[in-house]
Amino acid sequence: MEVEKKELLYEGKGKKLYKTNNEDFVIAEFKDDLTAFNAQKKGTEYGKGSLNCQISSLIFELLNKKGIKNHFIKQIDDNNMLCKKVKIIPLEVVVRNISTGSLSKRLGIRDGLKLPFTLVELYYKNDELGDPIINDEHCKIMDILDNDDDINYIKDTARQINNILIDFFDSKNVTLVDFKIEFGRDIYNNIILADEISPDSCRLWDKENNKKMDKDIFRENLGNVVDAYQEILSRIK
Ligand code: TMP
Ligand code: ASP
Repeated sequence: MEVEKKELLYEGKGKKLYKTNNEDFVIAEFKDDLTAFNAQKKGTEYGKGSLNCQISSLIFELLNKKGIKNHFIKQIDDNNMLCKKVKIIPLEVVVRNISTGSLSKRLGIRDGLKLPFTLVELYYKNDELGDPIINDEHCKIMDILDNDDDINYIKDTARQINNILIDFFDSKNVTLVDFKIEFGRDIYNNIILADEISPDSCRLWDKENNKKMDKDIFRENLGNVVDAYQEILSRIK
């Protein structure tokens, strides 16, 4: 049966989610909009959404092949991705290999320092509160996840994804500095990887010269993101 895009379910900062004629599937449409600092900074770049949709699709396909269960079914066209319907768990799971961004700012760790081991952090996904950092106990107190098995599953999966993506990007001459992922519960209540993995949600540095190839270009007014995202897509295709 051909999947048809139906009414809008939800509009986020980077994507719109649509119902389909199949109860179990949704369509994620990637937008050209860019936001940073909890949407205090806003912009739009034509073509950004399409690049993120293509990059994210390639990465989800790779993770599927490596046995990481995720919501990706297929890329429909340049901006649209068919996904399993999930209920998003309100956590931003951040994995860091090199200190930069909020970690360096908050703790005074030197920007660019390679961490002695991979750091996994949890943030409560809540715009009104500004996505505060939380720990396992906060997760349980707030009923975001109510048991250690689920919390450990998410952290272990995040580390596995990191190992896969470090090697993948390294082979494309790109350093995976850090990234943010989100998980959801599918219709069987299983926890699976969801949302997107793109230069909007990762920090990617050119291995040759540490040049930024991700949304920091927008955050820090360093130029156009589309040229950098296009370069990422060309390298990983
Ligand atoms: P941070 O250093 O600003 O905390 O960001 C860590 C990683 O998470 C980085 O790869 C960018 C990504 N990220 C998002 O995808 N969404 C966000 O809202 C934030 C704050 C970071
Ligand atoms: N995505 C977040 C926002 O717009 C922040 C960021 O990625 O820096 O608010």
